[in-house]
Amino acid sequence: MFPSNTNLAPYLESLSQNQWVQLPISIDFALKLKYAAQRRFTTKQFRDSTIFDIKLSSQYRRDKICWIDPSDVNLDEAEAEILKNLDVLKENLRLFFRAPIQTFESHYAIYEPQDFYAKHKDITTQNNKRLLSFVIYLNESWNPSDGGELIAYHDQQILFQTNPLIGKMLLFNSDLEHEVTTCYSTRYSLTGWYRKL
Ligand code: OGA
Ligand code: MN
Repeated sequence: MFPSNTNLAPYLESLSQNQWVQLPISIDFALKLKYAAQRRFTTKQFRDSTIFDIKLSSQYRRDKICWIDPSDVNLDEAEAEILKNLDVLKENLRLFFRAPIQTFESHYAIYEPQDFYAKHKDITTQNNKRLLSFVIYLNESWNPSDGGELIAYHDQQILFQTNPLIGKMLLFNSDLEHEVTTCYSTRYSLTGWYRKL
């Protein structure tokens, strides 16, 4: 998942200093995930997103998602590999932060043209188990006119802003406010959360 010889330590340090970090992801590997996501889309495994199981008005969020079930015996090879790698990263995060990062959950997300996700936090008072959010982008080309940027805020100021181009993983504190601006091109990603049990 990470390019060979990636030393995680400086990235973890940066995450703890800044509340977010961008990690490099192997493009070949991310492409395999994109194809796996497309196969799932074709076989109708995606559904309209909900927020904590309440079906949402499309005024707030409009992507379609497909959860990756670690107990699924039919996982694609790249999916099995990413779950393994995300678990290794979980151990690194747990040891580095000495935090109760016990598990993670993840899903693919597809935003079609006109889809977006308004400003939100990934934790609420009902769901406060998430500690760190991550997004792995799966789009081989992306132009500014395609929209679909992730913008995160701290104290009403932009903390970081990024397009969803393949080759990167964003990792950030789940209590940061963030949004996905309107997409004008189909946008693929794999999103997840490191969390308490
Ligand atoms: C989310 C989210 C950001 C992105 O799914 O909760 O904020 O860039 N995703 O896809
Ligand atoms: Mn979010």
